[in-house]
Amino acid sequence: SQRTFSIIKPDAVKNGHAAAILAEISKAGFKLVAIKKIVLTKEQAAGFYYVHAARPFFGELVDFMSSGVIYPMVLEKENAIADLRTLMGATDPAKADEGTIRKMFATSIGENAIHGSDAEETAAFEIPYFFAGYELK
Ligand code: GTP
Ligand code: MG
Repeated sequence: SQRTFSIIKPDAVKNGHAAAILAEISKAGFKLVAIKKIVLTKEQAAGFYYVHAARPFFGELVDFMSSGVIYPMVLEKENAIADLRTLMGATDPAKADEGTIRKMFATSIGENAIHGSDAEETAAFEIPYFFAGYELK
């Protein structure tokens, strides 16, 4: 089985959707390996999304991701990385399929409720960005 990294983003937390999102993740067969509650500094948010540093929306993304409580988490199941991306839906909730987390809970393309690793190498960077080995047993 495979591990992936996810974040319940500040919009979803502020709008009261964190528990409902966890329920969808659980219903889809993911095991919750680790979860924590934190507020990122701008520097921490920029470091996490460094691959997007040259994008025009980078400043907005960093401000948003450091704007409130988030729930970073590690999830496990067969094919976890691809299956979580399917469950999340398209980046822009207006384009997301029915039944996806972003269709149900996201606000806009910038404030889109949930993050998920997009590849094995991404998960390998993102999991240790937030969790130490002893938190991942
Ligand atoms: P993540 O799981 O958060 O990485 O989303 P993604 O993989 O579906 O999208 P991508 O990695 O391309 O973009 C990362 C994040 O940047 C998105 O989830 C959005 O929060 C934000 N983002 C992407 N495109 C736009 C945009 O056009 N405008 C704004 N404001 N934010 C954007
Ligand atoms: Mg991405």
